[in-house]
Amino acid sequence: MTRIIKISENRIGKKRIRYAANQIKDGKLVVFPTETVYGIGANAFNEKACREIFKVKNRAADNPLIVHICRFDQLKEVAVVPDKLFKVIDRLWPGPVTFIFKSRNLPKVVTAGLDTVAVRMPSNKIALELIKESNVPIAAPSANISTFPSATEARHAVADFFGKVAVIIDGGRSKFGLESTVIDLSKKPYRLLRPGSYDVSRLEKVLGKIIIPDSINKTVRKGKVLSPGMKYRHYSPKKPLFLFDNINELISASRFLESKNVKFATFIPCEYKAKVNGNKKLILGSRDKPDEIARNLFSSFRKLDEIDAEIGLIADMKLDSFDLAVRNRIVKAAGENKVKNVKQFIKFIDSYVTYR
Ligand code: TXA
Ligand code: MG
Repeated sequence: MTRIIKISENRIGKKRIRYAANQIKDGKLVVFPTETVYGIGANAFNEKACREIFKVKNRAADNPLIVHICRFDQLKEVAVVPDKLFKVIDRLWPGPVTFIFKSRNLPKVVTAGLDTVAVRMPSNKIALELIKESNVPIAAPSANISTFPSATEARHAVADFFGKVAVIIDGGRSKFGLESTVIDLSKKPYRLLRPGSYDVSRLEKVLGKIIIPDSINKTVRKGKVLSPGMKYRHYSPKKPLFLFDNINELISASRFLESKNVKFATFIPCEYKAKVNGNKKLILGSRDKPDEIARNLFSSFRKLDEIDAEIGLIADMKLDSFDLAVRNRIVKAAGENKVKNVKQFIKFIDSYVTYR
């Protein structure tokens, strides 16, 4: 049985939080909101409960979890952190950034056998209260079945996990809608492992130079990757999503598909609404408001699977902020389905669509 509990960040009902916290203490799984995306959490020290997270998410065992804390003294329980780093981190937490440190005390399943651990102090008050009441660090990956887009509303998590977790806390829509930025602080130079809701340039003002590996926006299948999660296809709708080099090619493709009566959807900034053909336009927000695009991206990916369309089209876009993160999610979601132009696209899609 899964209990869905509504909690508002502005008025947190202690009784409700306590119910969820008791489930964590009891070794059960709880889905909870954070400012980035929803997480599916368990007591980080409970090996069996953490194993269950991997099972219900269908997550590869070599992909470690993020440990969520609510106070700085909890950091010492799970990680080895040089004293001088504490002051620096204090300026960035709580917030949408995760740091990698040398790990301690945690069961192997949480760190996937690595000697490092990912830790984050979220700023969402419901998440903080849940960790506080549970009185343990909470290990939590994003609350989605592996490869699906992360949950940015409770109903997404309900679709993926109803009946498989003890509690789903509904705390409304996620503030950022993209996962946290992951930075490796376990060795110098510091390195970006996953772009996310905290802009790297803002982090650099506090942390100094951060290396951005070239591999960030590529799909790596084999070989060594710095962050295990980055090698998998990710964030994808179930239906094929095609990524165009630019919006003009997408516009031409939409004209072609409409002429063939194909059922398709487009993911576009509102500025292009009049130019794009087709009657299923999933508006991501305004090009001038990158935070809007970031917030809507995953929920619109999920919409593609709900509507009467065979495929989705999206174009690469340059944004003033969240650029690295938004483009990273789009590239990963499209996976192999990257096309330069309409000609290439037409050759590619025969097996995916029905011409009517
Ligand atoms: O915003 C977020 O980060 C959300 C919320 C729930 O906090 N969580 C999240 O978790 O996105 P997940 O599991 O979907 O992504 C965690 C990422 C993965 O890419 C994983 O490989 C990486 O962090 N990671 C975890 N531990 C690591 C480690 N020790 N070394 C390198 N990468 C690590
Ligand atoms: Mg995830």
